[in-house]
Amino acid sequence: MLDYIIKGGMVVTAGGVCQTDIAVAKEKIAALGEASVLGEAVEIIDASGKYVLPGLIDPHVHIAAPFMGCTGPLDFYSASKAAALGGVTSIIDFTNTQPGDSVLQKIEERKSEMRNAAIDYGVHAKIVEATEEILGEIKGMVKAGCPTLKMFTTYRKAGVMIPDEDILRVMLEAKKWGARPGVHAEDNAISEYNDEQFEKQGKTDWKYHYLSKPPVAEGLATAKMIYYAKFTGTELYIFHVTCREALKSIIDAQEEGYPIIGETCLHYLNLTKEVMDDYNTGFRYICSPPLRDKEDNKALWEGLKKGNLRVVSSDNCLYDDKEKTGFLKKDTSGNYIHDYKKIANGVSGLEERLSVLMTEGVGTGRISLEQLSEITSTNPAKIFGMYPKKGVIQPGSDADLVLVDPEAAGILSAETLHYGIDSSIYEGKKVKGLPVLTMRRGEIIAKDGKFLAKPGTGEFLHRSLR
Ligand code: URP
Ligand code: ZN
Ligand code: ZN
Repeated sequence: MLDYIIKGGMVVTAGGVCQTDIAVAKEKIAALGEASVLGEAVEIIDASGKYVLPGLIDPHVHIAAPFMGCTGPLDFYSASKAAALGGVTSIIDFTNTQPGDSVLQKIEERKSEMRNAAIDYGVHAKIVEATEEILGEIKGMVKAGCPTLKMFTTYRKAGVMIPDEDILRVMLEAKKWGARPGVHAEDNAISEYNDEQFEKQGKTDWKYHYLSKPPVAEGLATAKMIYYAKFTGTELYIFHVTCREALKSIIDAQEEGYPIIGETCLHYLNLTKEVMDDYNTGFRYICSPPLRDKEDNKALWEGLKKGNLRVVSSDNCLYDDKEKTGFLKKDTSGNYIHDYKKIANGVSGLEERLSVLMTEGVGTGRISLEQLSEITSTNPAKIFGMYPKKGVIQPGSDADLVLVDPEAAGILSAETLHYGIDSSIYEGKKVKGLPVLTMRRGEIIAKDGKFLAKPGTGEFLHRSLR
């Protein structure tokens, strides 16, 4: 007996979009075809008029991750709610590594923090130094199912910037064991120099955040990291590409045949830096790298369409206003003294990604429905070692599915989203094309705006790149 037949939907399969029915049994997709020949099912789900996509994978989130001592409002269960209501069935978060830490130990810590998740979860290994011990652990990271690494070329003062020569060491060791380096690419010297100058000049308003970290800083670090990848002969994943400068280096390297993989995030496609000029609310948009301008938005959309950028993640790293402004001093009238350096970096996107991409991507013709499915599910599954278990609707794959009603419309706001905070960076945004049912490994975890999954029902994603 089948658990479900999902009937009458337009299904995004590996072979294209077609109308077919889907049989689900024992957490897996059992078969595709005409419902009449699929067999008996406990329940028939009517998907007529809906798209059926592989469950979204968000390969870049930070849930309850300390930044300047802030951890945000979400734990892995409440994040699962927002995720499931946004059509997401798997996430990958990061270890919280500091110098001196064993990364293997940090993987175990993170896994145990993630245990109450209701969606499936993986861990990237954050590497902040290349001591003999850490290099010796890379083989173990691969064995532990965490073969994807993130290094930072900035945040020196926070202790996570890794020295250049250590980046080379990590790249070479990663290559040996089947791990892949990834990078947060922003030049630290430029941003620290700018910070110093702005400090001297008393320029501390929100907008100096984006002015301190200009596109050339990202372009420079991206180009350098690509040269390092060429030198060491490794693949390289570039997290959160925001600007034309970085994108150009990626395209050039790809055209030369180098395996450079580019990711961008929802906010870099849809928001511009001017939102940070607002005296009262600009701080909400402080994230790193910063928001850019319209021309960059356009270039990123083109990069996605052409396949130079293969992933749209959320980089969800959410704080409410209170936490974001928690380090600001107040003047004698009780007003905050603005200082961009004292704001916890990060924005939302976990729940909004599908509806905003449906609206701004598919709805405008910038990308097709199949491309949406690739950049949010199939490519992350392939790139991060989960394919074909995840990222595709075909027999034998996990029954991770999202039904999207292309006609359903809504308005994004703090009230309609499920982060439990009192503001949204997408406040008032109209969206069309909404997830109405999310299934994770054969279990309906969200339906018609209700979250249905129990804590701890998510599973660890043991990933392999080989
Ligand atoms: O501002 C951001 N992106 N916060 C999250 C940390 C990171 O570098 O991705
Ligand atoms: Zn980053
Ligand atoms: Zn991030």
